[in-house]
Amino acid sequence: MRLLFCGDVVGRAGRKIVLERLPELRSRLALDAVIVNGENAAGGFGITPAICRDLYAAGADLITTGNHVFDQRELIGYLDGEPRLLRPLNMMPGTPGRGSAELRLANGRKLLVAQVMGRLFMGAYDDPFRAAESLLAKHVLGATVHAIVVDLHAEATSEKMALAHAMDGRISLAAGTHTHVPTADAQILPGGTAYISDIGMTGDYDSVIGMNKAIALQRFRSHVPGPRNTAALGEATLCAVFVETDDATGLARRIEPVRLGGRLRPAMAE
Ligand SMILES: [Fe+2]
Ligand SMILES: [Fe+2]
Repeated sequence: MRLLFCGDVVGRAGRKIVLERLPELRSRLALDAVIVNGENAAGGFGITPAICRDLYAAGADLITTGNHVFDQRELIGYLDGEPRLLRPLNMMPGTPGRGSAELRLANGRKLLVAQVMGRLFMGAYDDPFRAAESLLAKHVLGATVHAIVVDLHAEATSEKMALAHAMDGRISLAAGTHTHVPTADAQILPGGTAYISDIGMTGDYDSVIGMNKAIALQRFRSHVPGPRNTAALGEATLCAVFVETDDATGLARRIEPVRLGGRLRPAMAE
């Protein structure tokens, strides 16, 4: 299975490059499924139903979110009826929406996508390790589903790595989101799970994690509350990972970071 997971789309600049480039990427890479983290798509704060529809139309099969899931209040009533839009699995019982979804692809193959949220520097969520275990008790890679992707939405790289090792060999891809900076550690873990600590945001990198740098600086420099920050509007870089899995085992064969447009430069090959 050929998968693309696109990191946190931030604001209008991030949406623009996804809408422009995803259709071409989808056909050039012969993708079977596309996952997009959309928690910052609406001006940096949450996502709206209209933005979800635009992302689906551009080729996203499933959208994950994160701690910003309820920034746009209209999502509260929208999540329950939208199986292609996830919020973290380990939110409190009774939270609208779902933390995992099974997609049936064109040729009958099944892809499970889930999101867990870390707890270090993140707030009071249920144990993500326990949430992952109860998910994997129901879904067995290579038996009940052909591939499993888990969005690790966390601040600390240590917690993301630990979560990935806890699931190594039982999922196809463990991909970090939330910190908005791509990491250079894409690899296949010993058990066969593809991993990256953070995919990186899809947004303007002349910014502070996608937001207006002047307002962000002012917030670091003063106790006096300033204006609410807004997404940076310069040319965006699309950050994603491409993963190819073995349909028999569900394990990863290949993981490659994808970077298009904007300011970020690819790494120099050896
Ligand atoms: Fe984010
Ligand atoms: Fe986040």
